[in-house]
Amino acid sequence: MLQEKIKKAPPPSSGRSPSPAKAGKDWESYIVPQCWESFTAEDHEVWDLLFARQVELLGSRVVSPFFDGIDLLKLKHPGVPDVDGLNAILEPRTGWRTVAVPGLVPDDIFFAMLSERIFPVGNFIRTREQLDYLEAPDCFHDMFGHIPMLAHHDYAEMTRHIGELGRAAIAAGQGHKAARLYWHSVEFGLAREHGELKILGAGLASSFGEAHFSLESDAVERRPFSVGRAVSTPYKHDAFQPRYLVSQSLEKTIADVLALTPEQLLAL
Ligand SMILES: [Fe+2]
Repeated sequence: MLQEKIKKAPPPSSGRSPSPAKAGKDWESYIVPQCWESFTAEDHEVWDLLFARQVELLGSRVVSPFFDGIDLLKLKHPGVPDVDGLNAILEPRTGWRTVAVPGLVPDDIFFAMLSERIFPVGNFIRTREQLDYLEAPDCFHDMFGHIPMLAHHDYAEMTRHIGELGRAAIAAGQGHKAARLYWHSVEFGLAREHGELKILGAGLASSFGEAHFSLESDAVERRPFSVGRAVSTPYKHDAFQPRYLVSQSLEKTIADVLALTPEQLLAL
């Protein structure tokens, strides 16, 4: 599964929790109503707690378009964002929209959604007891981690292109190549900005434990990003990454990924 899974010992889940997404042939069949009105006061408080501590933690450690997106999409508004409100700003800007899903979606469905400028967000949020543990990507990971960057025109187009690459790779029985490219850029990539090492990936931007770890730990490898290296570098989906790929810049990552054709990806 491409979407992030983390960490630590899980307490039993309670309240709104993920359930397996229903099977279906097309991505539309995985969409469910967000039912924003069903989020409890406690759910909104958990969002506010996660949001406040993550903003403080990140400071200037994330590429600058991330907080531009937070501001533009009015994500500082208290409480769990509603999908319709986000889409009212996001869709006119970059053509992307968010849809609610009940849990992890299969990789083929996920790439198909990306190729249509659709980003799936969990229709649940972790509990207060599970602040640093996700059974499946919840709405904090999805909305805080991913959606701000989709307000950046070129990054949004790069993400759509990865969806196209993913569809082609899966059709050719080589989905892992697109999965690795996605993972080492959109999810767990690092990038230089004015010479400084910054967080690029949503899995890092939304993680309390791994954000600093990725930038500052001496126990990990950091290697220059290239599409070839991304495709040949395995990843872990259930633990901190043992290695991160560092892009020369956000713009370079975008240019490199957009220049990659499905045929070139399959040949890597
Ligand atoms: Fe993610």
